[in-house]
Amino acid sequence: MSRDKPWGGRFREGTDPAVERFTASIHFDRELARHDIRGSIAHARMLGRAGVVPQADSDAIVAGLEVILGEVEAGTLFLDPRLEDIHMNVETRLRERIGAVAGRLHTGRSRNDQVATDLALYLREAARMIRHGLLELRRVLVARAREHVDTVLPGYTHLQRAQPVRLAHHWLAFVEMLGRDAERFSDLRRRIARCPLGSGALAGSTLPLDREDTARALGFEGPSRNSMDAVGSRDAALEFLAAAAIAMVNLSRLAEELVLWSTAEFGFIELSDAYSTGSSLMPQKKNPDVPELVRGKTGRVIGDLVALLTVVKGLPLTYNRDLQEDKEPLFDAAATLRDSLAVMAGAIATLAVRGDAMRAAAEDPMLLATDLAEALVRAGVPFREAHEVVGRVVAHCIAGGLDLRTLTHDALRAFHPRFEAAAGELLALDRALEERAMLGATARVRVAEALDEADRSLAAEADALAREEEIKP
Ligand code: ARG
Repeated sequence: MSRDKPWGGRFREGTDPAVERFTASIHFDRELARHDIRGSIAHARMLGRAGVVPQADSDAIVAGLEVILGEVEAGTLFLDPRLEDIHMNVETRLRERIGAVAGRLHTGRSRNDQVATDLALYLREAARMIRHGLLELRRVLVARAREHVDTVLPGYTHLQRAQPVRLAHHWLAFVEMLGRDAERFSDLRRRIARCPLGSGALAGSTLPLDREDTARALGFEGPSRNSMDAVGSRDAALEFLAAAAIAMVNLSRLAEELVLWSTAEFGFIELSDAYSTGSSLMPQKKNPDVPELVRGKTGRVIGDLVALLTVVKGLPLTYNRDLQEDKEPLFDAAATLRDSLAVMAGAIATLAVRGDAMRAAAEDPMLLATDLAEALVRAGVPFREAHEVVGRVVAHCIAGGLDLRTLTHDALRAFHPRFEAAAGELLALDRALEERAMLGATARVRVAEALDEADRSLAAEADALAREEEIKP
């Protein structure tokens, strides 16, 4: 049989070693170590101040915990796999350092409110880390977009060439998407603003704990309002995972375009050597493994979300050991998203744009068919009718192998009397871009404004992050 249980008063036998291994969380709890100790320091200080434990004991516990926090930060704290979880590891290490007085730390506390607090602290920090990654990637996209205001490519719908756009406009679309991702990670703070400490196992404590004190010390707005909710809920973790899954899906779409655009068929970009790999067999290959893996890892992060949703679904209140399964999906999603953001930023910063190939594709005259229809609309023709007419013009060009732009005024008039000029006068690629001058469209001035607006919002986000980091406990 295995070692004695640390809180084993009511047991006569030790735990079976297979059960010990099965129930242990220490191999992934490492991520929580710093937060766990910070939570314990706040708790121990409060116990002293509130007179629940002698001040000298509180001081000894805090001093001991501070040393252990240093060990965690230096990477020297040995986590004993036989001690089940991070909470028992820290308490055991504390006892090694300060003796029996360590036994007062867990006064008025359960691992249930403890781990809920750890998780809230972890989520706060992880959300900031992700916002930094999102900020950096957006900075890179905006910088590359600035270089390519006058690089024109087809915009696509259904992956069919649709209408010409500026590459800057295209990449700014991702800046918007990633901006909403950042907002999701920032909004999340409001749902982790209350401190679970003092909720005990589920119903609070008979001891005169000062919950305001611990909440403030840990940078929360205040204590949680319901002890059962505080120990039994994981919706903030779910929200983090949902935000992570959505962000990965956005990255995956960006990644997919990098894969597609670096094919010989598109030839729109070339990834740098630093962000591509070779084939073990085919010497000519340069493979876009980085964006492919971002696309692939998106599946993992979606899986992480589904895993935790499934764990929580159907659990009765309050804490159930199932909830220990919240951590691996959470840590995996956070690390995967962090790394994906970093490699995407690197890949985009270093890729070469093949502007000529983009331009050549955008010169496809059929991309101007909508503009021809809108020329008729300006001449007073109802759009449905104009659409029908230009559809016939297009069919005529395809059948005769003609370039839409070469149709004479007479040729167009044969399709509709309201055509006011030759196609060559009505249609030009650059005009097609410039005439799309309304807010949110691809004209040069609008894109220039959008770039400035993006710079402003990135600067504001950088400030907000810096301010939040200043007040972190
Ligand atoms: N390792 C546990 C978890 O992550 C800590 C809480 C354990 N609580 C309990 N009642 N067994 O959820």
